[in-house]
This record gives sequence, structure tokens and C-alpha cells, in this order.
Amino acid sequence: MRRRLAVIAGDGIGPDVVAEALKTLAAVEDVFHVGLDVERLPHGADHYLKTGVTIAPADMQRLGADFDAILLGALGDPRVPGNEHARDILLGMRFQLDLYVNERPARLIHERLTPLKGKTPRDLDLVVFRENTEGLYVSVGGTFKQGTPDEIAIAEELNTRKGVERIIRHAFAWAKEHGKTRVTMADKANAIQAHHLWRRVFEEVGREYPGIQRDTRYIDAMAMDLVRTPESFQVIVTGNLFGDILSDLASMLVGGLGLAPSANRHPGGVTMYEPVHGSAPPLAGKNVANPMAAILTLAMMLADLGAADAGRAVEDAVDAAIGQGVGTADVGGTMGTREVGDWVATRVREARAR
Ligand SMILES: NC(=O)c1ccc[n+]([C@@H]2O[C@H](COP(=O)([O-])OP(=O)(O)OC[C@H]3O[C@@H](n4cnc5c(N)ncnc54)[C@H](O)[C@@H]3O)[C@@H](O)[C@H]2O)c1
Repeated sequence: MRRRLAVIAGDGIGPDVVAEALKTLAAVEDVFHVGLDVERLPHGADHYLKTGVTIAPADMQRLGADFDAILLGALGDPRVPGNEHARDILLGMRFQLDLYVNERPARLIHERLTPLKGKTPRDLDLVVFRENTEGLYVSVGGTFKQGTPDEIAIAEELNTRKGVERIIRHAFAWAKEHGKTRVTMADKANAIQAHHLWRRVFEEVGREYPGIQRDTRYIDAMAMDLVRTPESFQVIVTGNLFGDILSDLASMLVGGLGLAPSANRHPGGVTMYEPVHGSAPPLAGKNVANPMAAILTLAMMLADLGAADAGRAVEDAVDAAIGQGVGTADVGGTMGTREVGDWVATRVREARAR
């Protein structure tokens, strides 16, 4: 059965890295015959500046109804200083398609990539599950007396029982399915009263998983411990803002944003895949952005679509590249974006022979 993939290359380096992910996908199709039909969608800063439309409600609805997966490059362009197109498209997908799980793995491929002294790939292999539809990102609040010395800006943090429970349950279920033995939750329950909801639900849901150790940390200690003892973390579950920050920190421990993939899911519905990084406008179009995050994002997608062999072949190709010193400057290599994509695609094609 053929499946449908929507591709939104987006802004800045988005098109650069998505081109290499699609080059890799072409190699995958040659070898593994996954059967994905790709449809490119124009949404991004250019489209917005040309048409005045960020994304029409019908297009958003189509993304949820007509596709098996969505691949996004990145959104963010200095010509749109308010970033309203990114909010409508990216947060629009997360909120309107209710993609409540933001899965952000951080796996050290080679010890030379970590800034942590003495740590090896055995010490750094974790997944951050970030709640993706609530928290401080819901735009509940506003400003008062704007532009005066008495200006007030308020942003409310939304935590619902349903929202907290489903992300925590997802983290435990994922841990069980993947043979993990510990789930760590990061919150700020010592200072933010609302976070006691997270603590209670974590206890309740965690008790349903007797084989999995429950571990809770305050976010400040968590940030410290992630650097100090990264080996003590397997699965991390947390809210929207803390997850955004912790996952960037985790990515720096394993080689940086150029290697960090992610998935935005609603189990049973469409999944939107994107590299964690943004549009890095100064790098756009210069053949310098690292495409590996986008390519590893493709690997996550392939595995989800039932093409586990293809996903593994893509991941192996990136691992081999890093192992051989192949890469863009951010990972210590000397190649350009396109050359890294060529190398990975060739390696995937060779998977047939291996
Ligand atoms: N999901 C998204 O689409 C997303 C995420 C974060 C930021 N943004 C947007 O991207 C724009 C730039 O934001 P920023 O600078 O804070 O974050 P960024 O992720 O674009 O860049 C942060 C740093 O990482 C480097 N970097 C990022 N991706 C890289 C890659 N693939 N290869 C090599 N280096 C890479 C950049 O050069 C920069 O130094 C803003 O408009 C922001 O709103 C979008």
C-alpha cells in the first residue's frame, strides 16, 4: 500500500536540509521500496509574504486527514519579525492536530562529539518526551499598559489533568516497550503549585508500571544532572517549556542541533517530523547546514511507517559518516550540506549489497 508524505521545507536552512532528507528517501525507495508518495506544500515565509496567508484552515485540516506523515524543515525568517507564520503553521499543527507527544531522542554517536569529558556513547542515549500542546505556549494572557513604564505582560501556564496524564502515560508505555528501566520527570513543584498535578499523576501512572523506576527532579537540578551524570537518564518526561530547553541541552551533549531529530505525535493520528533546529537564517543556501538532523528525522519516520530496516539503514549510514569523520563543519567535517547528503544516500544504496 502506498503512503502519503507531506513535505513543508519552510524557511532558511529548511529547504537545504529537507533536500538531503529527500535525496536519502530516494535511495531508500530504490533499495527498500517503502512506497511513499511525496507532496510538497509551499507554506513558509515566502508563501506568506506573497499571499498574506500563513496556512488556510482547509490546508491544516488536509494535513491531518490526507497524509500518513508530515516532514517539516524549519520556520523562521527575519522578513517576518513577528514570526506569525511560524506560530500559525508549526504551533498550528501541534495544537490543531493535537500532536501532544514531542519525542526528542539524544544519542551520542561518537565520543569525540560530546563536550563532556570521559563520556562515551554508552553514557548518552536518552529520549525527552515533551508535552507539546499545553504549558506556557498556549498564548493565554496578554499585555496591559503596553509601552508605558507600568506595562504588564502575563502568560498563563496551562496544565490539564488529561494533558499531563497522556504524556506521562506515553513516556512509561514507551519505556516499557523499549526495555527501559527508569523514567525521570522534570518539574518545578517546589515553586510552582500547579506542578503538584504532575507529581501526583506521575506517581499514579508510574505505579501501573512496576518494572520501571520512578525518578523526579526539579528542573534546575535536572539541567545540572544532565551535564553531570547523563548516564542516569533513559527517558525524561516534562512540560512544554522545560522540554524545549532540556532537549536543546541534551542535543548539545551529543554533538549539537545538527544531529537532533524529533517527532510530534498523536498516537493513532498523523505524525509531524522535524529536525529540532530552527531555520538558522545566516547559514541558508550556503551549503553549510548539517543535514543529518533532517536525515535522522527521516529515519524515525521510516521506522514508524513499518520500514524498520530502512530506518536502521539510514541511521547506520549517518553513524558510519560520523565514524569516518564525514560531515559538515559543526561536527568537525569538511563537507557541504549536499555532499553529506550524497554520501549518506550512496551508503544507503550500498545497504543492498551488505
Ligand atoms: N522548529 C522550528 O521550525 C524552529 C525551532 C527553533 C527556532 N526556529 C526559528 O529559527 C530562527 C533561528 O532561530 P535560532 O537561531 O534561535 O535557532 P537555530 O536552531 O536556527 O540556530 C541555533 C544555532 O545552531 C546552529 N544550527 C542550527 N541548525 C544547524 C544545522 N543544521 N547545521 C549547522 N548549524 C546549525 C545555527 O547556526 C545557530 O548557531 C528563528 O526564526 C526561530 O524562531 C524554528
